[in-house]
Amino acid sequence: MSNKTNTTATTKTLKAADEIDKIRLNLVDDWKVLSSVYDLLHNEKAFCVSEADRDAVKIVHFMQPNEMKQLIDLSIDENKTHTVEEIQNLCRLVIKYSVKTNHGRFHNQLFGQMDPYGLMGQWITDALNASAYTYEVGPVFSLMETEIIRTVCQLAGYVEGDGIFAPGGSISNMYGLVLARYKRHPQVKTAGMFGMRPLALFTSEESHYSFVKAAHWLGLGADNCVIVKTNERGQMLSDDLEAKILQAQEKGLEPFFVNATAGTTVLGAFDDLNETADVCDKYGLWLHVDACLGGAALVSYNNRHLLAGLERTHSFAWNPHKSLGAPLQCSLFLTRERDLLNRCNSIQVNYLFQQDKFYDVSYDTGNKSVQCGRKIDAFKFWLMLKARGYGSFGRLLDHAIDISKVLVEKIRQRGSERFRLVMDEYQYMNVCFWYIPKALRGLDETKEWRERLYAVAPKIKERMAFTGTIMIGYTPLQYRGLGNFFRMVFTCFPVLEEKELDFILDEIERLGDECEY
Ligand SMILES: Cc1ncc(COP(=O)(O)O)c(C=O)c1O
Repeated sequence: MSNKTNTTATTKTLKAADEIDKIRLNLVDDWKVLSSVYDLLHNEKAFCVSEADRDAVKIVHFMQPNEMKQLIDLSIDENKTHTVEEIQNLCRLVIKYSVKTNHGRFHNQLFGQMDPYGLMGQWITDALNASAYTYEVGPVFSLMETEIIRTVCQLAGYVEGDGIFAPGGSISNMYGLVLARYKRHPQVKTAGMFGMRPLALFTSEESHYSFVKAAHWLGLGADNCVIVKTNERGQMLSDDLEAKILQAQEKGLEPFFVNATAGTTVLGAFDDLNETADVCDKYGLWLHVDACLGGAALVSYNNRHLLAGLERTHSFAWNPHKSLGAPLQCSLFLTRERDLLNRCNSIQVNYLFQQDKFYDVSYDTGNKSVQCGRKIDAFKFWLMLKARGYGSFGRLLDHAIDISKVLVEKIRQRGSERFRLVMDEYQYMNVCFWYIPKALRGLDETKEWRERLYAVAPKIKERMAFTGTIMIGYTPLQYRGLGNFFRMVFTCFPVLEEKELDFILDEIERLGDECEY
């Protein structure tokens, strides 16, 4: 190596050492930036929760991707740095151009406004940056997870149950499949599925797509996810379920798993768990319930009957981040069988789950999970339940269901010339409807007319994005041959009053009549 090269290398090393020193010395101040976070969010109206704010603040300042790229310098550089003020300004822009899901008029997804106690819990766990695998690293949180699982099992009627927090409902549903397969064929854990008859699972046409995806991911094959027909309310038909089980057997498949949905994604329908359990008992099949949406009915006073028969099922998934307002993500998988999660998922992990630790290792719950590092999702939910008691959520849920029925009534009152309901009655808090703008009224309802009608919701949706006054989702329902309609989903938060429903319908009419069809 030449002298010159040597000198350059030494200079570089010195420069790096200087930079490292600088970073080290600045760290104490860097941490102080966190004290500005609440103000940043508050000033940019991220917590726009008061009624006055609903009128004054836009939910979204929608920009097309190319415009957004001009507004925020997205580039990441090797050496370019930014001051605290510049970083704060960037955060301000990020908040400004993000969707304010806490705005009381965000009804776009199955989740809505958060419970502030939930956010408080989420901020604390994020700041502590613990992981949910061992008692050693998350001592208080491990106990809280266990306590929530115990309480939810009790509410569900699982006498000897167990469970785990998972990153979302799709994964929680996958836990159900993995457990069912292990229970039936424990050798799959070690030997895989080679040479086995193809396993078949059954779920309704109204159910969530996560089952088809899971069938692919778990090597069951998406084609072996058999789709069962539903009745006019969106509930799985147990006659068709039984027929499909027999057909699968005839084709040489081995049925092993049935999913019943408690609260379907679009119509909010609840499958009859007792009827489904009868079929599963007859054929010796695992019955899982996708209660990601409707699991909240567990705490309800007037709507608990929607989950009648839950105690007969083998497992269920529930997302408190949907109807109840826990911050994303908060999802639980529960099973009625005490030690199955552990037997199914645990393997020997000597560096993490040592058996010779200085405390009771039964509190190391991480080996029941498919994950290693696991975000603490229990604390935010625990804090919400602690602050309000689960009875309050029961009352809020009942209120949300009641108010959704008032919306149905108001839609009816506006007349079928202006609004059409997709179904006359809804079991939960989803209300699906078409708006018929002035331009489409009084015409023959031909195929062409329907095509024009199906273009209405996307056009109004675009207007919603640009005016920022309200956000409501839309969807088609292909299996019923139905084109786009609005799906308005109520949640525990915001706690809506009747007058807000008039605003919602008026706004749809106002925006709808501004568009061309
Ligand atoms: C009924 C149902 N199950 C499962 C899921 C998936 O949950 P996640 O989005 O948490 O994966 C959804 C999502 O909307 C759902 O509606």
